[in-house]
Order: sequence, then C-alpha cells, then structure tokens
Amino acid sequence: MKLKAFATSVASLGSLAVAATAEPDLARGEYLVRGPAGCGNCHTPLGPDGPVPGMELAGRLVDKNPGFTAYAPNITPASRIADWSDAELARAIREGLRPDGSLIGPPMPFAMYRGLGDDDLAAIVAFLRTLTPVDNEVPPSEYNIPLPPAYGPPV
Ligand code: HEC
Repeated sequence: MKLKAFATSVASLGSLAVAATAEPDLARGEYLVRGPAGCGNCHTPLGPDGPVPGMELAGRLVDKNPGFTAYAPNITPASRIADWSDAELARAIREGLRPDGSLIGPPMPFAMYRGLGDDDLAAIVAFLRTLTPVDNEVPPSEYNIPLPPAYGPPV
C-alpha cells in the first residue's frame, strides 16, 4: 500500500515536470493578442471600415505628434521577426529591446507588458508565429524626444 502511494506521487511529480515544459498554449496566445493585450490596436492597418481584412498585424502609422512619428512594424512571419529567436522576440515584447539592443519606442505599452508571465509571453510568441505572413513594410519611426536606454532591469 505504502509503495503504491509512493509510486503514485512519483508519477504525479513526473506529470508536473511535463506541464512546466509543455508546448506554449496557442489558444491562450490568440486570446491575449486579439483580446486584452491589444497588439492589433497599433500593429494592424486601419481602413475606413476598421482593421483591414487580410492585414492582421502587418504594420501601420500609429501616431504623428511633435515628439515622435511612430510606426508599429509588421510583426507577421513575413517580417524581420522571423529571423529572431523565440527568446529574442519574447524580450522585445516584454522588455522593449530588439536583438541588436536597440530600444522599441513609445507608444508600445511596456509598463503593461513587463508584467507578462513566462507562460503568457511564450503563448503570445507562439501565436505570432502562426499568423498569415503579409508582405508589408512600414517606414522606421522617428523620435524627437530622448528615449531611455531600457524600460528597467531585465525581467
Ligand atoms: C499602443 C501601440 C502598440 C501596441 C498596443 C503594441 N505595439 Fe508593438 N510596437 C508599437 C510601435 C510604435 C513599435 C515601433 C517603435 C519603434 O519604431 O521604435 C512597436 C514595435 C514592436 C516590435 C518590434 C518590431 C521590430 O521589427 O522592430 C514587436 C516585436 C512588437 N511591437 C510586438 C507587439 C506585440 C506582440 C504586441 C501585443 C502584445 C504589441 N506589439 C502591442 C506599438 C504598439
């Protein structure tokens, strides 16, 4: 009896370990990207009738003001993020740093995204990889205001 209980708890420990290294949850990533994380609010081109069909997250001009002209880039798999590793893309989203160390400028809301947990972040990255690739290049942003070197210490 005792042996059996021991075996059962070892087995459940095993499944815990599997859960921790499980594949990212794509449905969760889709929910976050299309829902509360609001990536499309800035990254999806807008037409007269709202988001342009077939252009999800393909990039657009977000804001032009005296401080900056901000373009949210194409983040579909047809963009340069395809060359970034999952860890590099995750750092860009949560910490605002590209693989080359440059800072992603406002208004991408890093105060909010710095609070993303590892699982949610991995789910977002995995979902972005499944988007329809769209060829669309937007110009680089221009910032007339000074940007900090980072939004804070590494998360
Ligand atoms: C409020 C607007 C806004 C929201 C919301 C937003 N972004 Fe951005 N994002 C931007 C802007 C603007 C830039 C480019 C800034 C610059 O040029 O430095 C950017 C840059 C990026 C980059 C860098 C791409 C590159 O090629 O350099 C990635 C990756 C990215 N965003 C992913 C996301 C994801 C994923 C979400 C949702 C979780 C998101 N963004 C939500 C505005 C936004």
